Amino acid sequence: MKLLTGEILSNEKYSDNLYKMEIFSPYICKNATAGQFINVKCSPESVLDPLLRRPFGIFNIEKKFNVFSILYRVKGRGTEFISGLKRGDILDFAGPMGNGIDLNENENNILLIGGGIGIAPLYLIARFAGGMKKNVFFAAGFKDNSYLRWGKDLIELKINYAVLTEDGSWGEKGLVSDYVWNNIKSFKNFDIYCCGPRDMLKTLQNIYKDRNNKVTALLEERMACGVGVCAGCVVKLRKGKKGFSYKKVCKDGPAFNLGEVIFD
Ligand code: FES
Repeated sequence: MKLLTGEILSNEKYSDNLYKMEIFSPYICKNATAGQFINVKCSPESVLDPLLRRPFGIFNIEKKFNVFSILYRVKGRGTEFISGLKRGDILDFAGPMGNGIDLNENENNILLIGGGIGIAPLYLIARFAGGMKKNVFFAAGFKDNSYLRWGKDLIELKINYAVLTEDGSWGEKGLVSDYVWNNIKSFKNFDIYCCGPRDMLKTLQNIYKDRNNKVTALLEERMACGVGVCAGCVVKLRKGKKGFSYKKVCKDGPAFNLGEVIFD
């Protein structure tokens, strides 16, 4: 992990609250992989309010151009600030952080299950897995059609996918977890990566608790330091039959075996 700055090449508004930002950074493009994140300073130079940096999963990496991107939702002062940055502005960030996903040679079938902004870190896994000629299926669920513009990125992956919305305004009407349950047999031999709201992850944990699939969850805890010092992002994991341990999402994660996560 390094403290870095990078020129913003675009900061495109996808919908009311959704943005994609492209940043020039040879260092990130060379050293980062899927599942990792960056910690962004969300205030002007020499201003320390808000004090804490905000974590953003790496959405895409274009090695050829030394450009990576983040997809983010505006939901507070920090993201409000970065949504106002323009092409040519400089982003102050640290990264790459967290442990990346090492796609296994033996993982031939990969199911990605994303809810809301949880689709962001899964996108790069999909891209890398597709590049390795794996059979990849992306199941994505949203409340409404505010992620419609992301559909273009999804199509570019040239993989099979299903989109669900709770209000039926895009794709099938329903929940992505119900979609997975209804198609459970088709995904029998798939390794799974999921990211999204807790309720979705809890439901998936129930669905897969007595099955043999390897299910990895990318957790999106609130973070403060982002480097394992403050313990602000701890998650409880099952250990043995009755025990448990605490792990830090920023340092030990963000990927964990979903079956081991204890959602209190
Ligand atoms: Fe501080 Fe993880 S955010 S330990």
